[in-house]
Amino acid sequence: MKRTLASETVKQLGEKVSLSGFVGGRRDHGKIVFLDLRDRSGVVQLVIAKDLIDVRNEDVIEATGVVQKRPEAMINPKLATGTIEVALESMTLLSKSRELPLPIDTDGYEINEEVRLKYRYLDLRRPRLQKNIKLRSALVDRIRQFLFSKDFTEIETPLLTKSTPEGSRDFLVPSRMQPGKFYALPQSPQQYKQLLMAAGFERYFQIARCLRDEDLRADRGFEHTQVDIEMSFVEREDVMALDEEMITTVVESLGYKIKEKPFPVFTYEESMKRFGADKFDLRMDEDKKKGILAFAWVVDFPFFEKTDQPADGSKEGWTFTHNPFSMPKKEHKEWLLSKKNIDKILTTQYDLVCNGYEVGGGSIRGHEPEILHAVFSVMGYEDKKIEEQFGHMLQAFRYGVPPHGGLAHGIERLLMTLTGEPYLREVVAFPMTSGGQTSIMDAPSFVADEQLAELGIQTFSESHSSSLYEKIITLLESAKVSYEQTEHERVVTSEDAARVRNAPLSEGAKALIFYEDESPVMLVIAADLKVDTKLVKSLHGIKNLRMATPVEVKKVSGVDIGAVPPFGNLFRIPVYMDEGLRRNDMIVFNAGLHTKSVRMKERDYESLVKPVVELFSKNVNPE
Ligand code: AMO
Repeated sequence: MKRTLASETVKQLGEKVSLSGFVGGRRDHGKIVFLDLRDRSGVVQLVIAKDLIDVRNEDVIEATGVVQKRPEAMINPKLATGTIEVALESMTLLSKSRELPLPIDTDGYEINEEVRLKYRYLDLRRPRLQKNIKLRSALVDRIRQFLFSKDFTEIETPLLTKSTPEGSRDFLVPSRMQPGKFYALPQSPQQYKQLLMAAGFERYFQIARCLRDEDLRADRGFEHTQVDIEMSFVEREDVMALDEEMITTVVESLGYKIKEKPFPVFTYEESMKRFGADKFDLRMDEDKKKGILAFAWVVDFPFFEKTDQPADGSKEGWTFTHNPFSMPKKEHKEWLLSKKNIDKILTTQYDLVCNGYEVGGGSIRGHEPEILHAVFSVMGYEDKKIEEQFGHMLQAFRYGVPPHGGLAHGIERLLMTLTGEPYLREVVAFPMTSGGQTSIMDAPSFVADEQLAELGIQTFSESHSSSLYEKIITLLESAKVSYEQTEHERVVTSEDAARVRNAPLSEGAKALIFYEDESPVMLVIAADLKVDTKLVKSLHGIKNLRMATPVEVKKVSGVDIGAVPPFGNLFRIPVYMDEGLRRNDMIVFNAGLHTKSVRMKERDYESLVKPVVELFSKNVNPE
């Protein structure tokens, strides 16, 4: 039978329909039960005789039944399908759900960020995020439609490219074919889009991923997406006008209201005087309540600002404020070429601000090779360095290049203003934690030595181990627990460790890494005991428990077997402790290094690591 969507059921009164989706809620009313079935279009209520079903929230089902009117008293005006319900005839369970580790029927702000991102695929089921992600898709769709209607060509530019100065640190990618050399991920397609103007495309755009290794903030991510635009034969006002038309058309077509049209324009100087910043919020409290968007342009920025880290390595010099590829204002071109009045040179840069955010920016570019050369020269680059880093641009500009300019919008920033969301992660499907950890998959992670060898890369494993050691010491210090540390010869086995420490074997706390399906877990056990995997399985309902390989141990903990400390919490994996360890007042372990041990109270260990304590050892041998 053809599938019907929840939202379509209202038009199919009296008909038999087949629905598929998640069980969104269940209300038992004696002999009958109401289920909410949720699919991509919305929610519809199913009515069922109780003994017919055995499903729980978030199970995935296929349900067949007849659409019927709800009794007058049962109508739910808040629901699009609130006037009808489906009398269930048959149901197939397609996939069973365990109990969810986090609620999804709230707006989710109250839940810890790490939990939300670890289970992002569940977090995304909440209505607020479904709405945000769909709005993102609609926004990009409208932008594309607008730009196509204005004769733009969508062109992709490379992700593996060359490191260029865009104002922040690059993410680097090692080359396997040319060991020792690196690609850089693009901070933006700036140079490529200008090269496309040299190639004669005249009107380019791209929905472009940009990567910048900068400090993370609420409105700043390592990755963001830009609507990136470049046009030939234009002046500053042409780009601003086209962009203003695009923004207005797109956001109004999505149902939003704009405070002032045309967008007010402020010079940088005015904006600093009036607002004390180059981005600001023009809304009144009333506007905020109504979700109104207050756009404004800021122009006439200084081209350069003082820096104590100029390119020539001296103590003081100049750097660009926005974009080194910009053209200065016409009346300041001579100053730039003769390197005079550097502090007074204004650029053709324009920024678009909205509700307190910088949602876009761009400029007319310095398409004359002398201009580009002069900019880098002001910033302290020697001729040789300019040729080395930007020779390709100067070269391209020597074969006839149309004057050009453009701009880029941060999609996430635009969405934050549309939705009122305070964090970038609320408008990204799989964002990172504020500590730079990816959702679900836990990158960055260690990789196998073979993989590194192939790339010609050596890491400083010992230095990592020392930093792990220091982390543990810092943890102990900040928790104010007492401990002893000893340095000794390099040991790998528990027996050798007990010997050099001159401590009973039973005091040693062995940290073992196992895998439960795809997830690593840590088992901590006294060194004289053995893990009884059968016991572990019966305790936790774990089916597939296996010991990690040495490469996996390194991947999870960053250190080699024999040096792994029982602090699984530092690697963000669950820790199970064998009850047998409680025989000891004191425990001792190698703390990230084969040559250093830490001895501390067992009680303190438990209070710091908070392991799940259970009995899973065999050969218990009470001393
Ligand atoms: P700029 O660096 O100003 O200009 O970036 C353009 C717009 O992208 C957004 N943005 C960001 N959003 C989230 N996280 C970040 N880390 C981040 N960085 C920037 C902002 C910003 O206004 N190539 C030039 C554009 C041009 O001149 O055409 C550029 O990248 O909304």
